[in-house]
Amino acid sequence: MEAIRRRCSVRSYLDRPVEEEKLNNILEAARLAPSASNRQEWRFVVVQDKDARQRIMKAAKNQSFVGEAPVVIACCAETDNHVMSCGQLCYPIDVAIAIEHMALQAVEEGLGTCWVGAFYEDQVKEILSIPKDIRVVELLTLGYPARPCPAHKNRLALSEIVMYEKWRR
Ligand SMILES: Cc1cc2nc3c(=O)[nH]c(=O)nc-3n(C[C@H](O)[C@H](O)[C@H](O)COP(=O)(O)O)c2cc1C
Repeated sequence: MEAIRRRCSVRSYLDRPVEEEKLNNILEAARLAPSASNRQEWRFVVVQDKDARQRIMKAAKNQSFVGEAPVVIACCAETDNHVMSCGQLCYPIDVAIAIEHMALQAVEEGLGTCWVGAFYEDQVKEILSIPKDIRVVELLTLGYPARPCPAHKNRLALSEIVMYEKWRR
């Protein structure tokens, strides 16, 4: 709960590299995530090269923090598009869980992250030589935050999102 409360989307980073050990801990947090039938379809491309990060920033609609972060992780799926009985695709859910594991472990390591969904998949694939049949689900920026997170989180109240026993309007 402490890491959950302390996590926020970090959109400004220090010009300071992320230590390999910390990066490995964060990737390990992704590896240990749950997935439907333990399919583990997630794949991660860790990008630290400055030129590649600049190009990814452009593919992410010029969101400047994407180029500023010392690490960008392209969170991908090598998937057969399996759909669960509930009708939902497995891979976006499974990759998302792994991403949030990384975001929370990053907090533990004194680092910040931001999920990035505003990007052109075809462009990111081209930059990172990702094959056609692989999906790029999200990008995750990672680095030392330039500023602390705001104390307040703008969220709906529990009473607005939780119903007990039945759906109630
Ligand atoms: C799936 C997903 C995609 C997102 N894409 C972007 C993005 O492209 N750019 C951005 O600045 N923030 C992005 N965010 C961050 C959200 O805006 C942020 O999580 C939300 O406003 C709540 O703020 P907080 O993360 O600071 O608590 C994304 C978050 C999620 C979960």
